[in-house]
Parts: sequence; structure tokens; C-alpha cells
Amino acid sequence: MSWNGIIHAFRDRLPLPTNAKAITLFEGNTPLLPAPRLTAAIGGDFDLRLKYEGLNPTASFKDRGMTMAVTHAVAKGAKLVICASTGNTSASASAYAARAGIASAVIIPSGKIALGKLTQALMHGAKLLPISGNFDDALNLIRQMSNLKEVEVVNSINPVRIEGQKTASFEILEALGKTPDFHFLPVGNAGNITAYWKGFCEAIPKGPRPRMFGWQASGAAPLVDGHIVKDPQTIATAIRIGNPASGEGALAAAKESNGRIDKVSDQEILSAYQLLAQTEGIFVEPACAAPVAGLRKAVAAGWIPKGSLVTMTLTGHGLKDPDTVLSLFPHAPSPIPPTLDAARKALGL
Ligand code: F0G
Repeated sequence: MSWNGIIHAFRDRLPLPTNAKAITLFEGNTPLLPAPRLTAAIGGDFDLRLKYEGLNPTASFKDRGMTMAVTHAVAKGAKLVICASTGNTSASASAYAARAGIASAVIIPSGKIALGKLTQALMHGAKLLPISGNFDDALNLIRQMSNLKEVEVVNSINPVRIEGQKTASFEILEALGKTPDFHFLPVGNAGNITAYWKGFCEAIPKGPRPRMFGWQASGAAPLVDGHIVKDPQTIATAIRIGNPASGEGALAAAKESNGRIDKVSDQEILSAYQLLAQTEGIFVEPACAAPVAGLRKAVAAGWIPKGSLVTMTLTGHGLKDPDTVLSLFPHAPSPIPPTLDAARKALGL
């Protein structure tokens, strides 16, 4: 059966204006990949499945929420969609706005957007407004702009974004035919964990449901540290957020599911980032490695019983952030002569 995007697939479970015309790039239906080599490498003895959201049309999970937000915006007659973003929301908003034939404007923390995300927004014709401030400052500005005429905010403070993103939980349950024991994912502005939990609660009204384990970067961990972080810092720029808009949703998901929100260091993130790429052939951006590092921590702490079924969301593709990769491999190999001898010597064969 052909796949025509999440609105088409889950229309009966999504709030939509009657007769709304779906603005879609056929997002969703991403693979749920087994990861036995990664599991062995971190010393686990359980069944791990990775929901690879980097394979969405703009290479992040944001597309699930954005098809909903832009469909609503168009149905309302908006002429401009706006968002604050650490990069992926802006890439997705600008692509879906282009698809709908309306304009987009994105407010981003100057110098703190991964290269691939910036190129996406430029290419889709977004009006770029870099600010001398962080994501939290950008979102604050967006809140002030939200009542402007013919403008629709497409951040996850717009509840239809959460509705779209909850469809990933439906897909996980459908693919497995049973309920995972744990679900791991990164947490930044906390919309996605809120959305997954909503999806699991709707799909499994009576439980049992997965225990939700959300992971922040230790320099940007307001939900773990228990206070707003004024100057959040992390290599994982996607989750460099000190005052998450959906923080309460994240804390509720952890509490109600008997899960936790925890943190991992940048060093742990970078190590997990490479481990995932080199054991499973799956290339993600640094933020997605936070739950991988988190799983390593959970295994070491003995939190995951033998034989558990663990699912994890990998939120964005690795090609979004080439600079972080190059920073790990600063010495490009020098050229060799194009001869068999030189190739054998270089490879030690
Ligand atoms: N992973 C990636 C790749 C992201 O881009 C984000 C958020 C998250 C995880 C965290 O998700 O905010 O729902 O908790 N990116 C937003 C953006 C903030 O502007 O693109 P969250």
C-alpha cells in the first residue's frame, strides 16, 4: 500500500479542520531498526529497536508536527509561518511552507545552527532572522509575535505540532505488535517526549505503557537540575535549551510512566554518536546520541532488566551537522600516488 504521510494514515486520530487539504511531503513511516551490535557494545542483554526519524523528508522528526501545523495554517488563511529554532524546526517549517506556497520566517540563535539545517532554510526561501541570543530568547520573541495578522506560529507551543508527533508512537506499536518496556529519546524543548507519551496513552488507554526515559545534555539540563539554565551549553546544538516550553509535559511523562529525565555529558554524547555510526551504520546528529549515551548509563546502573524490549527515537540525520564530524577527524589523510603499492602500503595489506 502506498504511503501518503501521517495525516492520510492517521486522520481519524488527528484534529483537523473539516475539508482541510493536507500539506504533506509524505513524512512518517520511518523504519524501526534492530540494533544488536550496538546493544552488545554497550553490554546490554535486551532487544533494542531504533526509530530512525532522520529518514523523514527534511531529515528530522519535526516533519510529523509540521505537516499538521502548516495544514492548519493554510486552512486558517495564514500567509506566513514563523518559528524559533535550533535548526530542525526551521528546516521543516521552511520546506512545508514552500510546499504550501506560503512564506516562512525563522528566528535562530546566531552561529549556533548546524550547517545542514541552515542550508535547508536558505534553500527553501525562508526569511532568516538570526538573533544575538539563544533559543530561549528566540522563543520568547516568537511568543510576542504570535498575534500578528496572518501569521501562524509553528513551534511546538502550537498544540497541533504535538498531535502530529504523537504518530511516531502509533507506528512503533504497529511495527512491534506489542508494547515496548522502555522508550528512550532526547529532550530539548520537550515537545517530542510530550507527544510520544500522548501517543502511547491514546493507543494504550488501559496500559501497561512504556517507561519514558528522556535525556538532556548536562550543560543544558533544566529538567534534571530543577531550574532554568540561563546560558545553556552543549555540542548537541539541537537541544541547547535552558527553559523548555513543554517542560511540564516531559516531567509528567516521566512521572506517570515511572520513567526518568536524566542527563549525559558532551563527552558521553560524542562517544555514543560514533559508536552508533560504527556499530550499526546509522548516522545521526549529536542530539540523537544523548539517549544512546543514556542507554549506556542505564545499562551500567542496572536499570534495564534482561530480555526487555527497548525502543529509542533517533531524531535527526547525521548529515545535518558535518562540522561536528570534522571536528572529531581533524586530520584529513594526505593524498597518495594512484598505484597498487601505495594503496597497499596505506592500508597495511
Ligand atoms: N533532537 C533533535 C534533532 C532536535 O532538533 C530537537 C529539537 C530535539 C531532539 C529535542 O526535541 O525539543 O521536542 O524536546 N529541536 C528544536 C528545533 C528545538 O528548533 O529544531 P524537543
